[in-house]
Amino acid sequence: MGNPAIFLTGTGTGVGKTVVGCALVSLWASNGLKPRVLKPVESGCGQKDGFLYPVDAVALKQAAGDERPVDVICPYRYALPMAPAHAAEEEGNPPDIDHIEEIVSELKKQPGPLLVEGAGGLLVPLARGVLMSDLVKRCDLTLLIVAPLGLGTLNDTQLTVRAARAEGISVAGVVLNNLTGDDSPAARRNPSAIEELSGTRLLGVFPHLPEIEAKIRGGVGAGSQAAERLLEAAGRIDFSSLG
Ligand SMILES: Nc1ncnc2c1ncn2[C@@H]1O[C@H](COP(=O)(O)OP(=O)(O)OP(=O)(O)O)[C@@H](O)[C@H]1O
Ligand SMILES: [Mg+2]
Repeated sequence: MGNPAIFLTGTGTGVGKTVVGCALVSLWASNGLKPRVLKPVESGCGQKDGFLYPVDAVALKQAAGDERPVDVICPYRYALPMAPAHAAEEEGNPPDIDHIEEIVSELKKQPGPLLVEGAGGLLVPLARGVLMSDLVKRCDLTLLIVAPLGLGTLNDTQLTVRAARAEGISVAGVVLNNLTGDDSPAARRNPSAIEELSGTRLLGVFPHLPEIEAKIRGGVGAGSQAAERLLEAAGRIDFSSLG
């Protein structure tokens, strides 16, 4: 495997970017690759010990075994569950795309794979006049798209792939995530349709993992129950093509 620098996006919010991302970095870590993670912006953070606590960033950090402090892994944190640009209108401290680009550029110089998780989907406003896709372009990252397995995904996935291509962003592939244990006719048919329709690779179907949220909250470091489940699931996805 080379030295991939991946931007993890989804067809929307809540589609499983963090869960799939934790599986990917757990796999990298278990292969001794020393992955680093970045969640440049996280909205909807709760308060913990007087600190805005970014649950996605913490999960990714633990799964990767990335020892850098959480506020370095997630430099822009907001309480309001809104697009980062809009949360920052209310709370201040808007994301500085130049600063994030510098962070990514430094991380890319270091050995080992890099995973950057976006917020929401590709066209979410990151800062005034800046979309998430602008960050991906500026940082020259390759896109990994997480999409739900079931009904609606064919349209949403094509829209995301087309938007990426229109911006000149390279797409490594799509992971279809079985968020709910969906066994509907659409869920069974979609995997065989997605490559032809979107013109991008299907890396695999990520299995439904009951209660994975609670398990991740309980800790997702090496050897944890969460990490074991995620590693099993990662084994079903062809992540080898990423690097
Ligand atoms: N394969 C799965 N099996 C079971 N639950 C899942 C699966 N994937 C995701 N979930 C659950 O779905 C919810 C959303 O997942 P997740 O937080 O990974 O989405 P996200 O795309 O990262 O969201 P956000 O846009 O907030 O960053 C979480 O409660 C998560 O535990
Ligand atoms: Mg997330």
